[in-house]
Amino acid sequence: MTIQIAIDGPASSGKSTIAKQIARQLNIAYVDSGAIYRTITYALLENNIQPNDSEAIKEQLQQFDIELMADQDYFEVRLNQQPIGLEIRSEQVTAAVSEVSAYPFVREYVNHKLQQLSRNYSVIMDGRDIGTVVLPEAEVKIFLTASAEVRAQRRYEENKQRNQLTQSYEDILQAIIERDRYDSNRKIAPLRKAEDAIEVDTSNLTVEEVVNKVISMIQPQL
Ligand code: CDP
Ligand code: CDP
Repeated sequence: MTIQIAIDGPASSGKSTIAKQIARQLNIAYVDSGAIYRTITYALLENNIQPNDSEAIKEQLQQFDIELMADQDYFEVRLNQQPIGLEIRSEQVTAAVSEVSAYPFVREYVNHKLQQLSRNYSVIMDGRDIGTVVLPEAEVKIFLTASAEVRAQRRYEENKQRNQLTQSYEDILQAIIERDRYDSNRKIAPLRKAEDAIEVDTSNLTVEEVVNKVISMIQPQL
């Protein structure tokens, strides 16, 4: 029997941190859907294609070799057979990814890959539309939130650790607010809580507290 767990929420609410730890504890695979949208965006920018050039994006998408390779407890995104790295988290990619991921043909391309693998594996998948569109039948759906200020502070700390302090806290906050607005207001698959999802506000919780809370919600389904 396979189990599907959907984790959605805005930028830096803690989705990937929490999902990775749960995947390890439950011995299931973590799938980072945002990494696929970021990889597409990165590859487009590398080919000098701008996020507003829908025709070029449509054409180029067919040429891309993007695959999800099963590792022990996660699916690695590969571009042209190579694992992708921190380049997909750059400021440039982050600024363009919401516009690219609003195209219906981009979403179809990604959803096809995500749905294919969730048929065969137990997964914990994070993103914006996992509980609403990608895995509507998921056994457990979690919607993580935190105030924009807390999320910007988290992203700032992360950048500091990576030695990537190119943006001030204020710039990060503005970029997060703008991306949330774009993701929440697009026509197709906007960021929103599925009706049957449980919302967890992580603003005042540690990672460990959130992990324990979510595990306790999953446990009855195992
Ligand atoms: O990690 P962070 O919250 O910054 O973002 P991400 O999960 O890597 O997603 C990057 C962007 O991809 C989001 O801002 C959305 O525009 C898009 N995305 C989406 O549209 N649907 C998903 N299921 C996942 C990401
Ligand atoms: O995937 P998403 O963009 O939602 O967030 P992330 O990449 O997991 O980043 C969240 C950051 O906030 C990480 O640096 C975590 O260590 C930190 N954090 C958290 O995820 N949850 C908390 N309750 C507290 C801090």
